[in-house]
Amino acid sequence: MTEKTAPSGYDFALDRALKALHDEGRYRTFIDIERRRGQFPHAVWTRADGSEQDITVWCGNDYLGMGQHPVVLSAMHDALRATGAGSGGTRNISGTTVYHKQLEAELSDLHGKEAALVFTSAYIANDATLSTLPRLFPGLIIYSDALNHASMIEGVRRNGGQKRIFRHNDVSHLRELLAADDPAAPKLIAFESIYSMDGDFGPIAEICDLADEFGALTYIDEVHAVGMYGRRGAGVCERDGLMHRIDIINGTLAKAYGVMGGYIAASAKMCDAVRSYAPGFIFTTSLPPAIAAGAAASVAHLKTDQALRDLHQERAAVLKLRLRGLGLPIIDHGSHIVPVHVGDPIKCKMISDRLLSDHGVYCQPINFPTVPRGTERLRFTPSPVHTPPMMDALVRAMDDLWSHCALNRAQAAG
Ligand SMILES: Cc1ncc(COP(=O)(O)O)c(C=O)c1O
Repeated sequence: MTEKTAPSGYDFALDRALKALHDEGRYRTFIDIERRRGQFPHAVWTRADGSEQDITVWCGNDYLGMGQHPVVLSAMHDALRATGAGSGGTRNISGTTVYHKQLEAELSDLHGKEAALVFTSAYIANDATLSTLPRLFPGLIIYSDALNHASMIEGVRRNGGQKRIFRHNDVSHLRELLAADDPAAPKLIAFESIYSMDGDFGPIAEICDLADEFGALTYIDEVHAVGMYGRRGAGVCERDGLMHRIDIINGTLAKAYGVMGGYIAASAKMCDAVRSYAPGFIFTTSLPPAIAAGAAASVAHLKTDQALRDLHQERAAVLKLRLRGLGLPIIDHGSHIVPVHVGDPIKCKMISDRLLSDHGVYCQPINFPTVPRGTERLRFTPSPVHTPPMMDALVRAMDDLWSHCALNRAQAAG
């Protein structure tokens, strides 16, 4: 049988698209790494020629090392042994198990909401919920922060409703946009608690004030905060005593919780409506029970493990202090994320490549479109399992490479 080949015009179009990425220095190369349970952030990098090198992962989002926590692994092993691999169906058709129900109960309790709804990822949770809301609230206008994550942008973009984009964290601009619209129109403000690329916080209280004034619903993405902020790890809204002012909270189970999946937490009626109308929830197989069990164990554990949260914050503060001490332009908004501004895609990739090959330090370059052109950066994510000697090695390597690339030793940029 001969393989069908596309007419040459299609090949040409693909070549052109890929060449554009190479030319701009933002073609993405995936690094083949294998984590070893119990040894994270150590991992093994397999090069293209098949040879292996020990590396330390400095750019992962397993922020607290929960991906190898015994409590999580044991819950997953138990569920796997008890039920097997997949869930075998959508939530509606045989795919709702006791593990999914337990996870949703943990999450609604975490956020102090009546209900929670689990999706296969926070991307899907954002996209499915935001694209469904105009069906529930005809005429809905969504006010979306300009730097919202791609999953929110996608949901808002294709929902067929009206949208307004307010300048990042600019509550005056948001007010102007709200005031310009029909006071009777249903409204929703969508924003994040921590923006992952700069590590800056959203003005949650001010946005909630505006929502009250203009009768709008509030939708917050706490993906980079859940597990890590607040007394029980419910995020920045919990830390700041604002959870009750948010109508829909979105979170992930894949970052600080170390497993996979995403969710919304909201009123019972809101969750029921999204459950009943959102194609991204309805028409897809539910999470494997073992994943749901591991995530539930992780959420439950982090409700009480404040020591882990404290250590996480301490490691981030120390790394920032040390990089700033070298005069590197770190972006510091007081969160756990440590971005170092390079501002050039080629140099950013070069530093990343040399960190990996010469120093065994893995930090993926962050280029356009994830961040605007000219703001390319390395984004370090120190965790409680990154030890002081690992940090010494990273700081030495950054010092060398910064000089090697003749980059400025600027003042801190945050
Ligand atoms: C702000 C934000 N929201 C949502 C997501 C999607 O999360 P998940 O990996 O669970 O799909 C991400 C992923 O990086 C994110 O940064």
